[in-house]
Amino acid sequence: MTGEARSIPAALDAVTGYWQPYRLTSVNDYDVKVVKLRGEFVWHTHPDTDELFLVHAGHLVIQLRDGDVTLGPGDVYVVPAGVEHCPRADEEVAAVLVEPRGTVNTGDAGGDLTAVVRELEERRGPPG
Ligand code: NI
Repeated sequence: MTGEARSIPAALDAVTGYWQPYRLTSVNDYDVKVVKLRGEFVWHTHPDTDELFLVHAGHLVIQLRDGDVTLGPGDVYVVPAGVEHCPRADEEVAAVLVEPRGTVNTGDAGGDLTAVVRELEERRGPPG
């Protein structure tokens, strides 16, 4: 069979830590990532790429210099390339991100929250 279905909820169950993206799958040269968010990120810009947020659970505020966008479960928002933004999660948020492979989560800002994309562990059934 060609490939396997991936489960977003199962992938999110495997996520440990906040602001740490894990690669769920890829489409062409884009990564589809799952991430849990809590607290405030850093203001940053991705000069060369848009960034897609799809909220799975919780409510995520995308702070923009001209106002906030609040996303609930099932909501999708694209931050255009070059637009400064700072995500904020007042409660735990589970989200899916879509952006080109190699995109740095903190964009041009860098700092302690910069994280490389991690691969999800292969989930196997119980032995026997
Ligand atoms: Ni960003």
